[in-house]
Amino acid sequence: MAYDVLIIGGGPGGYVCALRSAHLGLRVALVEEKELGGVCLHWGCIPTKALYAATRLIHQASTATEMGIAFAPPSLDLPRLAAWKESVTARLAGGIVDLMKAANVDVVRGRGRLIGPREVAVSTGETLRADRIVLATGSRPIEINGFPFSHPRVWSSDDALRLDEIPQRLAVIGGGVIGVELAAIYRRLGSDVTVVELLPDILAALGLDRRATAVVKKGLTLAGVRVLNGVSATSFVEEEGDGLKITLSDGTALAADRVLVAVGRRPNSSDLGLETIGVEPDRRGAIPVSTRCETSAPGVYAIGDVVPGPMLAHKASADGIVVAHAMAGDAHAATPAELIPQVVFTDPEIASVGLSETAARAAGGEVAVGRFAYAGLGKALGMRETEGFFQVVADAADHRILGVTIVGAEASDLLAEGVLAVRHGLTLEQVAETVHAHPTLPEGFHEAVENALGCGIHTVKR
Ligand code: NAI
Repeated sequence: MAYDVLIIGGGPGGYVCALRSAHLGLRVALVEEKELGGVCLHWGCIPTKALYAATRLIHQASTATEMGIAFAPPSLDLPRLAAWKESVTARLAGGIVDLMKAANVDVVRGRGRLIGPREVAVSTGETLRADRIVLATGSRPIEINGFPFSHPRVWSSDDALRLDEIPQRLAVIGGGVIGVELAAIYRRLGSDVTVVELLPDILAALGLDRRATAVVKKGLTLAGVRVLNGVSATSFVEEEGDGLKITLSDGTALAADRVLVAVGRRPNSSDLGLETIGVEPDRRGAIPVSTRCETSAPGVYAIGDVVPGPMLAHKASADGIVVAHAMAGDAHAATPAELIPQVVFTDPEIASVGLSETAARAAGGEVAVGRFAYAGLGKALGMRETEGFFQVVADAADHRILGVTIVGAEASDLLAEGVLAVRHGLTLEQVAETVHAHPTLPEGFHEAVENALGCGIHTVKR
């Protein structure tokens, strides 16, 4: 069977690309060896957010006495929590299957491998042909020396999300996004958690301002998560019973029952048949692509985690949409790489888009910066969510908004207004003259913008 488009990989890059391509009138096949939805839906964003919401409830209930409401300590039915999490992913996965059917996308179950610029061999024995091919094969957790995932006490993020057990002591190697999100979840589930991060600060890869990560670090510490910076884990030995003794690079030892390795993810670019089209991945295994996500082999595209850039589901979907339009003949389709928002679901949450203050100043231009604390918002006080702040960075000359960072409750949702502002080059004045409903959290963004203009109503002038 010959198609206009053949996509390998059904995650948020591949399935979105398939749907948009089909909507644009192309005949599409998608090859996927597992369930549609990819890591994001089954082993990443969605299950972690379900657990984030569930464990946040535990925290909120346990601290409600301040408001005169007392709950008994929670009793945890782990299989039921795991089943509920599965029900969330199953429902979404079913939705994708329905969407594919409705769009007439042929989903081929199996593992796909290029055997030429227009041909893919599927593990089922079929050979599929298409005018264009999209590689959307995603990424997998990186394994480090001395901590093989095959060891039952060494967890990848996939193992942690299976929720088979709550270890009494959990060591997390890597204080990146996965490390801190899962550290917070397991701490609330009752584990004694220690994060071991090689660099001087957590979440360093995100390029956030120090004051932003400091709030998250304080939140982790208050929750009882121990964070060790500037050290790595070198090896471990098994102790009597369930224990592990982990040796750290500073010569100290860390006792744990399970160790979660979250030191990054590697693109799934091997065994894809790239050599048959003359394409070579870079040192990290990522497939180099143009701004239209086209590889050096004309007609073969690559999107999402398998290409250089942030490994984020919404970035993969954005790539997929660009490629669909490019394949349908739009000569101007290109990825807005610098405008990918990033969100970390810690307590409090952290969300950013565009330039941080540090990056904007380093770029050399004059900048206007405004901030506003959650503690100044009536809504936040009533919610008992007073940690954190809103920050806006603008060009000091023309007042165009260059970046927004929000650390605090619901930051992930609140960022949307900032994304719109940066994407469309809104000025501080345009946001300032927009009436924001009261009492709401977005008022914090409005106040930060007014502060960048030097006219914040609820800020004491000094
Ligand atoms: P990461 O790159 O964000 O963080 C890995 C961390 O491990 C780094 O801080 C690094 O310095 C540290 N590290 C590396 N080797 C180490 C060692 N031997 N000992 C101690 N520390 C070491 O990678 P992570 O957290 O695994 O996430 C992978 C990808 O998944 C990221 O690109 C992330 O953006 C994405 N993701 C996004 C989420 C979100 O948007 N909320 C949630 C989870 C993952």
